[in-house]
Amino acid sequence: MTSRMQVLCFVTIIVIQIIQCTCTFDLSSSNKDVVWTVENENKSITVPGTVPGGIYTDLQNANIITDVLEGFNDVLTRWVAYDSWTYTSKFKLKPKHLKYAISNLVLEGVDTVAFLEFNGNPIGWTNNMFVRYVFDIRQYLKVGENELVLNFVSPVEAAKARSDKHFTAPNCVPSVYNGECHVNQLRKMQASFSWDWGPAFPSVGLWKNASIEFHNGALIRNVRTFTEKSESHWSLRIIASLESGLPRSEIKGYLSATLSVNAHQSLTVGRMLDVQAGEDGAAEAKINMTISANVVSLWWPNGFGEQPLYDLNIFFSNDAENGEMSHKLLKIGFRTIELVENDAYTIFGNKTAGQGLTFYFKVNGYPIFMKGSNWIPANILPELGSDKNTVDNLLLAARDAHMAMLRVWGGGVYESDYFYQKCDELGILIWQDFLFACSMYPADKDFLESVKTEVEQQVKRLQYHPSIAVWAGNNENEVALRGNWYMTQTQFERYKQEYVKLYVDTIKPIVESYDPSRRYLVSSPSNGKKSEEDGYIAQNPYDPHYGDTHYYNYLADNWDANIYPQTRFASEYGFQSFPSLKTMRTATNNTEDFSLYSKYSKHRQHSPNGNTNIRIQIKKHLKLDSDDKKYFEKFVFYSQITQAMAMKTETEFYRQSQADWYTMGALYWQLNDVWQAPSWSGIEYGGKWKMLHYFAKRFFAPVLISPRLTLTGDVDVYLINDRFVPIIDANIIVDVFNWTSLTPVSTKSYPANVNPLSSKKQGSIVIWDKDKKDELFLRFSLEYDCVKSSPENYIFPVALKSVKGLGKPNIQIHVTKSSKDLNNEMLYEVTITTDSVILFLWLESDIHGHFIDNGLIVAQPSTQVDFLAKVSTNAEEIKRGITYQYYINT
Ligand SMILES: *[C@@H]1O[C@H](CO)[C@@H](O)[C@H](O)[C@H]1NC(C)=O
Ligand SMILES: *[C@@H]1O[C@H](CO)[C@@H](O)[C@H](O)[C@H]1NC(C)=O
Ligand SMILES: *[C@@H]1O[C@H](CO)[C@@H](O)[C@H](O)[C@H]1NC(C)=O
Ligand SMILES: *[C@@H]1O[C@H](CO)[C@@H](O)[C@H](O)[C@H]1NC(C)=O
Ligand SMILES: *[C@@H]1O[C@H](CO)[C@@H](O)[C@H](O)[C@H]1NC(C)=O
Ligand SMILES: *[C@@H]1O[C@H](CO)[C@@H](O)[C@H](O)[C@H]1NC(C)=O
Repeated sequence: MTSRMQVLCFVTIIVIQIIQCTCTFDLSSSNKDVVWTVENENKSITVPGTVPGGIYTDLQNANIITDVLEGFNDVLTRWVAYDSWTYTSKFKLKPKHLKYAISNLVLEGVDTVAFLEFNGNPIGWTNNMFVRYVFDIRQYLKVGENELVLNFVSPVEAAKARSDKHFTAPNCVPSVYNGECHVNQLRKMQASFSWDWGPAFPSVGLWKNASIEFHNGALIRNVRTFTEKSESHWSLRIIASLESGLPRSEIKGYLSATLSVNAHQSLTVGRMLDVQAGEDGAAEAKINMTISANVVSLWWPNGFGEQPLYDLNIFFSNDAENGEMSHKLLKIGFRTIELVENDAYTIFGNKTAGQGLTFYFKVNGYPIFMKGSNWIPANILPELGSDKNTVDNLLLAARDAHMAMLRVWGGGVYESDYFYQKCDELGILIWQDFLFACSMYPADKDFLESVKTEVEQQVKRLQYHPSIAVWAGNNENEVALRGNWYMTQTQFERYKQEYVKLYVDTIKPIVESYDPSRRYLVSSPSNGKKSEEDGYIAQNPYDPHYGDTHYYNYLADNWDANIYPQTRFASEYGFQSFPSLKTMRTATNNTEDFSLYSKYSKHRQHSPNGNTNIRIQIKKHLKLDSDDKKYFEKFVFYSQITQAMAMKTETEFYRQSQADWYTMGALYWQLNDVWQAPSWSGIEYGGKWKMLHYFAKRFFAPVLISPRLTLTGDVDVYLINDRFVPIIDANIIVDVFNWTSLTPVSTKSYPANVNPLSSKKQGSIVIWDKDKKDELFLRFSLEYDCVKSSPENYIFPVALKSVKGLGKPNIQIHVTKSSKDLNNEMLYEVTITTDSVILFLWLESDIHGHFIDNGLIVAQPSTQVDFLAKVSTNAEEIKRGITYQYYINT
């Protein structure tokens, strides 16, 4: 049966390819038969246009403007956003193109407000960047040359015009953002009018593909899949959305689904279909499949198992003329996921930690602590955000740092199909916000209608991905209203009503109808179920007993675990740092810019008091004299140290708190960057890892020995275990070091154990003479089955600026070619020898490539780090190209 099935599929696939290339006319720039131009309002500028693309990229390619991320170009190029641009394409059609019953112009993404004409005829408006637009253009088609024109309205003007009619707070972004106002009025990437980590580039253009679809019968637009597990099998429900293009038309034909399973077998189910399309020309067709549980394997989040994906081929062959066939290929996974909000007293009794509700994800029946970060758009220009290299690099970096979840934040975009596919492959679960952030939003009829279409389309597009874990209505809008962030208190009732209208009455039922398999949270942060009971605007949306929280505190000592409040799930927390000088130099080479107080530095820091907050934090821990000759260089480096240590402390606090509070998630803010500027990111624009990302690789390790310095000066030691097997009869080794020596003053061993998927406090230790704390530090390691199974961890009992005896190390570096093979890439072993302790040893190389580990605490004479070269080189060259920095009290 299997082999016959495969032959059958093979034949049908060939047929489809022939039909596909005759029934879609590609309007993207990759089609050489289409010419796009773009022109400004007074026609002083006419340059080639690109699709997918955008106005800033096109003007850059035409040398009208230079690299938009250099210097002050974000404001120097702002005129682009105030002008009106017209994109025009010309292309020739053949007689065969006019023979179809349906000829639709399909625009996958238009950014944002545009008036469209086809061959001189008005065909409609667009006003939502996240909607796929379809225009019936059959009556306007001609043999020979055809012309499509998109007249874009300045987004800044469009936002203002809507605000004049439907003002909704806030009035504008803070002036330090150098941004534009009223982006909440537009269904456009909210960060494109600036953010506290990014510049404003209010772009226009076709940021996704465009085409003309020709067909006679119905085609498959998208497919949703629902998997449900019982004892011995999986039920797979498949819902195909069919589009005929004609209202109330009859859709007749044969629908089939073929699932490839383990051992090269496949299962096929098919059925005749005869349904009537709705007013919108669309209909849904369902197929059920039952799959024996032993022919598919479970899909797991990164770090918890494999990510097997199975091909699901859906075919629809129309009974209509020419026997047209439509096809979709999905790669699906088999897993269950549940967001559990149960009475917490079942875990802790009901005194303190046991009040309220739990908030955790259960995957395949197991409670899993979600380690990860927050994703902002990969590029400030939306057309570049889906670049495969960029997406790969960022997602692989997340994978390598043991992340199992990323939150796609509400001020960005619904990411590309490629992004979610990659997350499926890597096991990175997605917390998907709907795209509303840090603002009140309008709730007039036009706005709500547009949002309805957007949400319906996006849920239908993304629903089948096993990586998607949860939907959330918005970012921080519940707490912004409750906390009166935008002076809305006098109109609280109005804004509350609009809030409910948008996220509860409009979005929620759509999500729950198209995707009943996942939880829809109204906001992040929120108290989850409790916020819903409290009328959606909770008294305290940050209540530690419910839902998720966002926590920022720039003034307290961020290296002190005792400052952090408990939470069920930390979905945002962070601290800023500067990008490396190397990354900064891709934006400026002016010597005077490289100062904390330069016009340039002020321009790039959007967080009010941002540099002061970093300075205060550095000052608490590190010695840095304002008259130091290398002040700026050191400030940059120290900002990365303080950020990494702050995030290490806070993240480990949350991981430890799985034991104390049933905290079950730590997603720090933020994974990536859109430009070369101070921000909360762990990865710089361009892809270079900050010290934070190297730290994340260690503080998110599956098994972690994690000490906490308490207010009394004792040390609580936790053992954290993200594996499915318990740790029994392990030993925690505590080495007490004198800062003056690489030989421990003393070493003690304590027994340790912890259940699977748990954190456990192993006890409290008091080791030192409290008067001598400034002479000592502690190193923690885990001995288990005679292997070191946790990264080493450290406690520095006093601020580093106050320690006694930390000397200048003599460092020697030796490089050899590694015998280990890493996907045929060139791996080199870099051996560092030292005669004294080195703090935060930071290695850099001028050879293209990266260190596998960095930002090291070195407390032994010899340390080895691998360097992965991306170009052909040799050990001698690498050795010559290595530079390093470290922290020392001088
Ligand atoms: C046309 O528009 C450009 C860009 O907005 C502007 O710089 C130029 O002065 C305008 N030219 C005329 C003749 O109005
Ligand atoms: C856009 O269209 C081009 C040309 O048809 C195609 O190669 C590319 O895969 C499409 N991109 C997406 C994201 O569908
Ligand atoms: C598929 O299964 C669901 C329940 O799992 C049932 O409600 C539905 O009627 C079935 N559909 C078809 C087409 O058999
Ligand atoms: C704790 O639980 C007990 C037993 O269910 C109940 O009587 C008591 O009211 C609860 N206390 C609180 C503070 O919820
Ligand atoms: C600054 O100089 C470096 C090294 O020469 C160069 O690679 C970089 O492109 C320059 N940056 C700018 C903004 O010109
Ligand atoms: C640390 O080493 C220094 C220099 O050897 C010594 O003077 C000091 O007493 C030592 N401190 C402790 C607490 O062992």
